Amino acid sequence: MQAARTSGRQMIVEAFVFATQMTAPGARANGIASEQAAIVARYLRCRSQWRPHLENCRSFILAGAEKARGSRRAVVLGSGCLLDIPLAGLSRRFEEVVLVDAAQPLHARMAARRLGNVRPVALSLVAMGPASPVYRSWRGTVREADYVVASMLLSQLPPPRAVAPGTDWRRDLIAAALADLCAGAEAACLITETSCNLRGSGGETQAEDPLHGVAAPPALERWGWPLAPPGERADGMVVELDVCASLRPSGDEGWMGPDGLEEPTAAIAGRKEPR
Ligand SMILES: C[S@@+](CC[C@H](N)C(=O)[O-])C[C@H]1O[C@@H](n2cnc3c(N)ncnc32)[C@H](O)[C@@H]1O
Repeated sequence: MQAARTSGRQMIVEAFVFATQMTAPGARANGIASEQAAIVARYLRCRSQWRPHLENCRSFILAGAEKARGSRRAVVLGSGCLLDIPLAGLSRRFEEVVLVDAAQPLHARMAARRLGNVRPVALSLVAMGPASPVYRSWRGTVREADYVVASMLLSQLPPPRAVAPGTDWRRDLIAAALADLCAGAEAACLITETSCNLRGSGGETQAEDPLHGVAAPPALERWGWPLAPPGERADGMVVELDVCASLRPSGDEGWMGPDGLEEPTAAIAGRKEPR
């Protein structure tokens, strides 16, 4: 994450979040833990601009829970600091909520203890393969979900400090994560950025593809997220993400489009677009 104006108090919060995380092996060395602490610090600086995005995520995730047939277990992938996760609502709707993240902050562990039916798991969804990082499913660790949620996770999966030869491992990783989201019969909710739009102080613009060429499923809702509003980044760049939110009801019928079910899951999951 780009350097930003940080007050002394925010630096203390960031250091505290970093130090008190419960981490999966490798999460500190590969930068996931420090990235998560940096997100909290940025949230403290930008919370009013972030509010609409976070509220959209929470209400979309809760509405999506109604598409789950069962009530036993919800699994939240990349739960992090729970900024965009309606944890209390999910905990009422399901008998158990499992939070999966390579770095489990103290805040999430305390919320879990308070609610009683929430289980934080420090698990990395990425492992080092023979040549490059590869996706590692949560399904062997957490079984039989009725609802799985991945909110703003896909583009964060490539570890910030991982370097590997070849150009497509990030894309393969994201495609595998998307395919895995569709691999079971549980309902699935995906919220992801589909474009990262940067604007310089001179007005010059640039768009980056955070999904590295992988197509997102059909969107039921779309909105913008001013990730770095004016004045946030030290280099003067303003960053806004295009966010899309998708739902797949229980069963394997496909992702919902505005007019009902759209394409069969298998046709969408992991499909690669030419870059
Ligand atoms: C942008 S945050 C998602 C927002 C988060 N739900 C929140 O409200 O704070 C991305 C999350 O993915 C997690 N993450 C990144 N790489 C991961 C990995 N390999 N395995 C599991 N979680 C990972 C990060 O720790 C972070 O909490």
